[in-house]
Amino acid sequence: MPHRMVTDHERGVSVEQNSHGPASIFEFTPDMSVGIMSIDADHMAFFELAKLIAEIPNDENRNSIVLSSLAILDEYVDGHFLREEKAMRKVNYPHLAGHHLKHNQFRARIRAIGDVYREGTLSAVDDLHSLVVQWLRGHIATEDNRYKNWLTSSVVDDRPLVYLAIEAEDFKN
Ligand SMILES: [Fe+2]
Ligand SMILES: [Fe+2]
Repeated sequence: MPHRMVTDHERGVSVEQNSHGPASIFEFTPDMSVGIMSIDADHMAFFELAKLIAEIPNDENRNSIVLSSLAILDEYVDGHFLREEKAMRKVNYPHLAGHHLKHNQFRARIRAIGDVYREGTLSAVDDLHSLVVQWLRGHIATEDNRYKNWLTSSVVDDRPLVYLAIEAEDFKN
């Protein structure tokens, strides 16, 4: 029998699913980098959290994991937005006001979803993972991408996210 290449079909690999696996909506790709490690790390953390939320099993622990995820998401939102806004303020970034507004609108949406869930509408979080991923992708590609030439690592507070979240909490009080 003449030698021939084994096709992907014979190997059981579907054509759409190439050797790198199917593209995941939760994947942080290099084109999303803003060139600052702490900010990229925050963005990656959001994607990971969205994936975790998407995969919460429908069992007796679901409610407590959803509640905890909502609390973590709140902290990520507060901490990450403060990290970016502090750096933008430091360099007198001209588009800060608009960027801040976009952050606040997203924060309000996330908070509203959490409130509705905690009031008993469990389906409120059904699309939360895709909201987070879609908003983040769009926001990184537009607003965050715009500050790339203004911010350097030296103006960014690079402490872990939780420290920024605590500082954001202080601002509210
Ligand atoms: Fe931002
Ligand atoms: Fe961001």
